[in-house]
Amino acid sequence: MLTNDKFCNLLKVYGMRFAQATSAIRSVQRSIQTMKISNNTILITGGTSGIGRGLAEALHKKGNKVVIAGRRKQLIDEIVAANPGMEGIVLDVTDQSKIASFTADVLKKYPDLNVLINNAGMARMEDWKADKVDMREVTETITTNITAVLGLTQAFMPHLKKQKDAAMITTTSGLAFVPLAGGPTYSATKAFLHSWLQSVRQQLKGTSVEILELAPPYVQTELGGEAQKKDPRAMPLDEYVSEVMQILESGNTARGEILVERVKPLRDAEGNGSYDQVFEQLNGMEFAMV
Ligand SMILES: NC(=O)c1ccc[n+]([C@@H]2O[C@H](COP(=O)([O-])OP(=O)(O)OC[C@H]3O[C@@H](n4cnc5c(N)ncnc54)[C@H](OP(=O)(O)O)[C@@H]3O)[C@@H](O)[C@H]2O)c1
Repeated sequence: MLTNDKFCNLLKVYGMRFAQATSAIRSVQRSIQTMKISNNTILITGGTSGIGRGLAEALHKKGNKVVIAGRRKQLIDEIVAANPGMEGIVLDVTDQSKIASFTADVLKKYPDLNVLINNAGMARMEDWKADKVDMREVTETITTNITAVLGLTQAFMPHLKKQKDAAMITTTSGLAFVPLAGGPTYSATKAFLHSWLQSVRQQLKGTSVEILELAPPYVQTELGGEAQKKDPRAMPLDEYVSEVMQILESGNTARGEILVERVKPLRDAEGNGSYDQVFEQLNGMEFAMV
């Protein structure tokens, strides 16, 4: 029979195990969570609109030096003017010939740079049953979403490795985990990045550079055109940014992934056996979700 004493002893044992397990989990989490939320010098590509702009402004408010990059100079000027202390620099990430000089300029001006956020991206719908697929668009998607991220990372990594606390965050997508059939190349570029990030994270273990993956769900931005900004099925941008900031502040980035609740059905589909159902749901929708 389970007496009160035995029950109390059991509770103590389980309590201790629970405490040990919790502390072990916390120490593992600490060891992979190093990104400070303030006092960083951050370069964010794709900082002129949507998620990049939202994060840039939120990080600026938290006391970081934030430098935004994008092609649209006028937007850079407007955003910088609206956020005193923020700075901006024009960059077309697809122009590989400029990456070295861009990196040198940035590091000369911001020698304390310790966070690179590879966020610039583009999305196009494609019809692969048509007689012709626009290969210029396909190539542009791959160059913007993959080649540019790899190019900027290799250019900044030698500098980041020398910083005491550094991080490289790359924006992927929930579609890295379950593809949207209407955007085959887009989805595949994000799946590429997810895989690539795991290897880079493993290679950089033991260095000062934390490798993080930001995988957004469908969010109200102009990525898929003007209509997406108002699509009620997409997550409001301010809600997305605020949840991401909470995750960064809490350090709740298990596996190095920054996942809001809304993206978890996609992220977890393969692991929890719901992949076929989620794929069907996603691709049964009659809208161009990116
Ligand atoms: N919104 C979503 O539903 C969603 C979901 C999952 C993942 N994402 C990802 O989130 C990231 C940000 O997208 P968003 O939704 O915020 O869309 P967005 O508002 O269209 O922002 C895209 C940003 O990327 C920049 N960019 C695009 N091509 C560029 C180039 N060649 N050179 C430099 N900058 C370039 C744009 O700046 P300029 O035009 O000024 O160059 C812009 O700031 C992307 O990587 C996207 O794939 C978005």
